[in-house]
Amino acid sequence: MGSTAQPLAVPQPRAIAPLPTRRAPRPSNVTLKFTMALTGTVFALFVLVHMIGNLKVYTGAANFDDYAHWLRTLAEPLLPYEGALWIFRIVLLAGLVAHVGASAILVVRARRARGRFRRTGMNWRRLPATLMPWTGVVLLVFIVLHILDLTTGTRPIAPQSFEPATETTSHAFANLVASFERWPMALFYIVVMVMLGLHLVHGLWSLVTDFGVSGRRLRQVWAAVALIFAAVVMLGNITIPVAVLAGWVS
Ligand code: HEM
Repeated sequence: MGSTAQPLAVPQPRAIAPLPTRRAPRPSNVTLKFTMALTGTVFALFVLVHMIGNLKVYTGAANFDDYAHWLRTLAEPLLPYEGALWIFRIVLLAGLVAHVGASAILVVRARRARGRFRRTGMNWRRLPATLMPWTGVVLLVFIVLHILDLTTGTRPIAPQSFEPATETTSHAFANLVASFERWPMALFYIVVMVMLGLHLVHGLWSLVTDFGVSGRRLRQVWAAVALIFAAVVMLGNITIPVAVLAGWVS
C-alpha cells in the first residue's frame, strides 16, 4: 500500500501552573513547640526546686532565712553578692519571654486555622488543655505580684512589715508569714497553685508529643508522672498559706 502514514498527534504537555502555595510560616510550628517544651521543662524543674525550698518554712525561721541568704551568697567570692541569683533570674526571664512569645504565636495560628469552627461540648478530661492560655495568663500575673509581694516588698502588695534582705541578713520567713496572714492573699496563692497544677499537668503531658515520643507504654507512664509531679508541686505549695492561716507556722 502506498499510502503514507500520518504521524499520531501526540498531545503536548501543557505548562503546569504551580499550585498556589503559602510560604511556610517562620518560625515553624515545630520550632515554636520545641521552644515551649524546652523552656517549659526548665520552669517545671524550677517550680519543683522552689517548692522544696519553700517547704523549709516547716524547719523554722532561722533555717528558712539562712536558705534565702544562701541563695544570695551562692558561689561567692567567685561571683559577687546575688551574682548567681541574677544569673538564675536572667535565664528564667529569657525562658519566660520565649515561652510566652511562642505560645502567643501558636494560639493566634491555631485560631486562624480553625476559622469559625469551634469545638462544642465540654470534656472534663480536656479541661487542663482547654484552659492552658488562661492558666498561663494567671501565672504571668501571679509572678509579677509574687515578686512585688515577697522579693521587692512593694506595698500595698507586700505586707506593711516587709523588710528587704541585706548582704548579712534575710527576713524571708517573717515576710512570708506576714503576707499569708492576710487571708485574701493566702486565698489568692491557693487558687493560683491550683492553676499551676492544671498548667503543669497538661504542659508536662504535652512534652512527650512535642519531643516525638510515640510508644504507648512510655506515654502511659509519662501521663502518670505528669499527674504526680503537678499534684506534688501544687499540694506542697498549698500547705504553706494553709499552715500560716491555721497558725501552724508563725
Ligand atoms: C505558695 C507558693 C509559693 C511560696 C510560698 C513562694 C515563696 C517565695 C519566697 C519566700 C520568695 C522570696 C525569696 C527571697 O527573697 O529570698 C519567692 C521568690 C520567687 N518566687 Fe516564689 N513562692 C511560691 C510560688 C511560686 C511560683 C508558683 C513561682 C513561679 C511560677 C514562683 C516564682 C518565684 C520567683 C520568680 C521569685 C523571685 C526570685 C528572685 O528573683 O529573687 N514562686 N517565692
